[in-house]
Amino acid sequence: MTDKRAIARRLAKEAIAAGRPLEWFEKLYLMAKAEGATIPWADRVPNPNLLALYERIKHIPFGPKALKVGCGLGDDAEWLSGLGFYITAFDIAPTAIAECHARFPASKVNYLAADLFAAPPEWKKAFDIVIESYTLQVLPPGLRTKAMQAIAGLVAPGGHLLLVTRARDESDPPGDMPWPLTRSEADMFCSYGLEEIYFEDYRDNESPPVRRFRACYRHS
Ligand SMILES: C[S@@+](CC[C@H](N)C(=O)[O-])C[C@H]1O[C@@H](n2cnc3c(N)ncnc32)[C@H](O)[C@@H]1O
Repeated sequence: MTDKRAIARRLAKEAIAAGRPLEWFEKLYLMAKAEGATIPWADRVPNPNLLALYERIKHIPFGPKALKVGCGLGDDAEWLSGLGFYITAFDIAPTAIAECHARFPASKVNYLAADLFAAPPEWKKAFDIVIESYTLQVLPPGLRTKAMQAIAGLVAPGGHLLLVTRARDESDPPGDMPWPLTRSEADMFCSYGLEEIYFEDYRDNESPPVRRFRACYRHS
């Protein structure tokens, strides 16, 4: 059986070795378009782990202005738009954003290419709900803290952050990309002005099951 992550892992390794750890995303989307390379996370359906998180916390009165971090091919953003959120969805890879526009030409989502680490200043504390699923785990551990701080900084006062990520124990090896987060890493959000209001450490329905965290934080 071929490893669907082989190309992504090779590109990530090369990019990190070259000191440009964010460059491989656009390369992978381009390779997928040109040569049919596999984008391991692109299932072309909304993320079932995110849907399940939302089911568990949907009693919370979320405000309408939403931001999807690292939106990939747009399936989660479209689902959130269908729920009635006014959603901005961004990705560092312009090819992914072009694909969102092509796949959903009548979309109400505001798709744009942007880097989390250089987000527009007007996004600061601007969103009632920020959704992060699977982006932190593809950033090398050295960039995570900065990424988490940047994500927390996008949540409006009283707003919420939804997180879905791979998980591991502190004593587990970091593994290969996607690199699972530890509980203490996830807890870093609480150092950036957020408080945890829901947290689940679980195994999903994949075969074999994958250990994940899904959580909701409120801007305190
Ligand atoms: C593992 S994928 C997950 C995509 C989508 N959330 C999903 O579940 O299908 C992570 C996405 O984050 C994007 N990304 C990585 N670093 C980013 C950054 N610094 N700013 C914005 N997007 C980024 C990648 O291009 C990629 O599309």
